[in-house]
Amino acid sequence: MNFEFTEEQLMIQQAARDYAQRELIQDVLERDEKAEFPTQHVKNLAELGFMGMMVDPDYDGGGMDTVSYILAMEELSKVDASISVIVSVNNSLVCYGLEKYGTEEQKQKYLKPLARGEIIGAFLLSEPEAGSDATHQHTRAEDKGDHYLLNGTKNWITSANSASVYLVAAQTHPDKKHHGINVFLVEKDSPGISLGPHEDKMGMRSSDTHSVMFSDVKVPKENRIGEDGFGFKFAMKTLEAGRMGIAAQALGIASGAYERALAYAKERKAFGTEIANHQVIAFKLADMAVKIENARNLCLKAAWLKDNDQSFSQASAMAKLYCADIAMEVTTEAVQIHGGYGYVREYHVERLMREAKLTQIYEGTSEVQKIVISRSILRD
Ligand code: CAA
Repeated sequence: MNFEFTEEQLMIQQAARDYAQRELIQDVLERDEKAEFPTQHVKNLAELGFMGMMVDPDYDGGGMDTVSYILAMEELSKVDASISVIVSVNNSLVCYGLEKYGTEEQKQKYLKPLARGEIIGAFLLSEPEAGSDATHQHTRAEDKGDHYLLNGTKNWITSANSASVYLVAAQTHPDKKHHGINVFLVEKDSPGISLGPHEDKMGMRSSDTHSVMFSDVKVPKENRIGEDGFGFKFAMKTLEAGRMGIAAQALGIASGAYERALAYAKERKAFGTEIANHQVIAFKLADMAVKIENARNLCLKAAWLKDNDQSFSQASAMAKLYCADIAMEVTTEAVQIHGGYGYVREYHVERLMREAKLTQIYEGTSEVQKIVISRSILRD
């Protein structure tokens, strides 16, 4: 087993680290406070090739492997998870799903600008009454011959306002239950689409999250992904890849908090010495380091399986579950090590703790990951 990264993977990791540590860090506190969308940073990351990292160069992507994507996601998330969720949704939900299951025409029209980062995409599956229970889609896509007519509401949509193109799940044949669901490419400026207010979130405050309402929105037939009724399978397959991105995000939040706690513990003095010299702190740091190492290995294993065309459904669910849980634990300990300073914005760890919480909730709650893992174990 080879634990070494290639030169290319290390270069990509370094490029993400440099951008995060030099640029993202400068205004991350302000953006968190004002809940401002990071427009310029998204443009810069697109220029650096981070918006369509794994897409084939034939479709204007970076042609990188999933291991590189995990390394980049960790580095960006150490500093700013609001940015990394935008990067993750574009890369491993929208671009991945479109590249794997889209038609040539769909790829030419939508994947290329998405991969270049000229536009960004959003994934619209969740609804007011269909979150974890994703099979029960209430949004309707009525077949009108040469087009579909979309009606319904989607909730908690990352990049809802800033995205130009949506992947929207909707029910076409309610009698067929989840076998009647389709997913469509829908342009955000289509007549009949309106947005709810910006959600005032606890963490990841500068990614834009809204509900999206569809009222008689016409979608051309050629914008359906796959065969009629393929939508639920498409969503599940795409989420397998998406969850890996969020796992790496959670890992980055944890390692960002750990690095801050380690530095602080080596500097801060109490009872006559640096607090790192007190076993009570040193043991906390040891526990944090072990959890992060395990989390990173789970992410890389899932990425390696994907890069080697092996099944990664269980591995990505395990990575997402574990990374999200340890992100909560590690960030909570990082706040504790900082004492009172940990509870104020300036030291960043309270923000990382707020960001960690969302990784246990979106792209499938921790409980959903347990459903996926337990079913996979019981089936084998
Ligand atoms: N690959 C292919 N097919 C799959 C699959 C997979 N990974 N998982 C399930 N399926 C298929 C099943 O085989 C089954 O097909 P058949 O009926 O033909 O046999 C069908 O899908 C239904 O599966 P289940 O019976 O397992 O469905 P379920 O109702 O018990 O639920 C679930 C399964 C795992 C809980 C699923 O509903 C789920 O993943 N829910 C969570 C949805 C989610 O992650 N939402 C996040 C939204 S995206 C987001 O947050 C993005 C963002 O903006 C950040």
